[in-house]
Amino acid sequence: MQPADGELLRVLADFLEWVPQPPGDLDRLVKNVAGLCSLLRDEVRVTLRNERAGDRETEFASLVHDWRRALFPRLNDDQFADAYAQTVTFALLLARVENIHFEDRTVEEIARLLGKSHSLMGKALDVLTPGWVLGRVATTIETLRRVIGTVHWDLLDDGTGSAYLTLYEQFLAVYDSELRKQTGSYFTPSAVVSFMVRFVDDVLRTRLGLRDGFAAPDLCVVDPAMGTGTFLVEIIDQVARTASVDGEVVRAKLRELAERLVGFEKQACPYAVAELRVAEAMRHHRTELPAEGMCLYVADALDAVDTDNLLDEFGEPLKRRLGSAYEPIERSKREADKIKSTRHVEVVIGNPPYLERAKGLGGWIERGSRSAQGVQPPPLDSFRADGEGKHQYKLSNMYIYFWRWGTWKAFDAHPKAPTGVVAFISAASYVAGKGFAGVREYLRSTADEGWIIDLSPEEHRPPVPTRLFPSVSQPLCIGIFARYNKPSPRTPATVHYLAVHGTQAGKFDRLQTIHLGDPSWKACSTVWRAPLKPPAEAGWASYPQWKIYSHCRVWVLRPIVPGSTTQIRPICVSAGSGSFGHPPRRRACFSRRRVIAPSTNGYRRSKNSTNRPHHSATRLGRAQSRSGWDFAASTGSGSSPMVA
Ligand SMILES: C[S@@+](CC[C@H](N)C(=O)[O-])C[C@H]1O[C@@H](n2cnc3c(N)ncnc32)[C@H](O)[C@@H]1O
Repeated sequence: MQPADGELLRVLADFLEWVPQPPGDLDRLVKNVAGLCSLLRDEVRVTLRNERAGDRETEFASLVHDWRRALFPRLNDDQFADAYAQTVTFALLLARVENIHFEDRTVEEIARLLGKSHSLMGKALDVLTPGWVLGRVATTIETLRRVIGTVHWDLLDDGTGSAYLTLYEQFLAVYDSELRKQTGSYFTPSAVVSFMVRFVDDVLRTRLGLRDGFAAPDLCVVDPAMGTGTFLVEIIDQVARTASVDGEVVRAKLRELAERLVGFEKQACPYAVAELRVAEAMRHHRTELPAEGMCLYVADALDAVDTDNLLDEFGEPLKRRLGSAYEPIERSKREADKIKSTRHVEVVIGNPPYLERAKGLGGWIERGSRSAQGVQPPPLDSFRADGEGKHQYKLSNMYIYFWRWGTWKAFDAHPKAPTGVVAFISAASYVAGKGFAGVREYLRSTADEGWIIDLSPEEHRPPVPTRLFPSVSQPLCIGIFARYNKPSPRTPATVHYLAVHGTQAGKFDRLQTIHLGDPSWKACSTVWRAPLKPPAEAGWASYPQWKIYSHCRVWVLRPIVPGSTTQIRPICVSAGSGSFGHPPRRRACFSRRRVIAPSTNGYRRSKNSTNRPHHSATRLGRAQSRSGWDFAASTGSGSSPMVA
């Protein structure tokens, strides 16, 4: 068959003989590659949709099935299409960064060579591109191979180590800026990371008695949402700085660190970049990587701890072994699971993703688990406070799931090793927001000491020049909570607060000077659920409101500032004949002084309440103990107000 004018032949010849130009800079590389990557994702989506529309499962769908079993049990088709395209693209880029030549090599050969230095990415490229898959998306993968094959990484890398980071940041913005929002992929400015690492290092030294801070032997450190590995790189540099001026001592310390510095990341692209950056940081200190690689895993940090023993909704084991074809991927998953389940982690640090209305995305943290060993309730329940029901939907936020994962891992999961530190830069809504009272209560009752560094004292929608991340409008803070000893749930943690004002550059500068003994720290309330702010700065709106129930009417009283003495003489409204909607009749219901008196820790607690709220109390007692404030109200004329 040949068209009369030979046009088809010319098009085919053009394609086959086309030699792509090497990109002259990162911008050009990103533009070329991100477009092809999103084309590949769309093709995989369409192929899967067509397969699903037919009445039998075909090859692409079985690839999804295997990928779920190997790595992400809850992956849907669209997420798979995205993972597929990102993994293939970044594996090929990784191969060029490692100087693997593409001429006359098939994707399969490239995957095998890549597997020698990056076993997981090499294997991922291999299993995702078997011959029959290539047939379906052959043109796009072949174009990617040819375009990426021209890359001379040495010419694009300026040697400062920022090229990998720029590559990924720019890639994400061009490839899918909406996905960037959904996955919370905002990369942490180095001023923030260096502050957090230095501060936690000080906490380890001065509060936990670990003289060498992050360099202390056996101290396990996890970034559960490592992105491109910024925190891990900073910790490597911190340990190198601490170790000594002697190169051999530094190398020995870093070799030891490599076995206890852990990162989880859900997406293949940032994972690949993290691998490169961490390897480069080790190389910079002339330290070879361990033969089995660093402890970096493509994993969902929030997923069930031990999927091997989990049952699906029909009671069948969720995961069966896939055999040697997937071995490096399965090994990585097994090791990640082992860290989640059995390894005692002392430090959890990072910048977790932010995503509101994330109900259903919190994995095991949100759902708990059913396994052959029994039912485990959702760890998120520890962040719930009774009486907060209508605001608790706000806990359905990715950053809260990560706070719960971090605190569970450092404080709850290993009772025999109770000490630890959790440090996150995250949204600040838990500091004073409604719906987060249970988070504050948990933090106060679980930790011994905490620090809140308020990065957005300008409050909601801070002006752009003051934002640390210009495109993130939520107020942010750094929260660091530490426990030094066995749990003492009846003693509230001492929490310190410090606000950082000014422009973005001013805030970065200020972070470099904040230290444990900084005179700007202010003491926060010790009331269990009160804002993690000094009482004077918490404001009216953030104090709990009191509701007084009288028959069927509810009165919401103005919040009461601790330390003040307030006289309340509410006029209670009864429902007259008792029917709803009947015009209310006014009558005095009660009249008594309500005294909130300061005590040594700021507020006097009700006599019969322990420090820790007791949940079996009456509604009135519960309200007293929850707030820790005295509430002295007596009923008037037979009416019995209840406080909830
Ligand atoms: C804010 S970024 C982290 C930035 C990182 N600290 C850096 O500076 O490169 C959050 C990262 O968490 C990852 N992530 C989101 N959900 C995750 C999950 N369930 N498990 C592991 N990683 C996750 C996202 O892919 C994203 O790369």
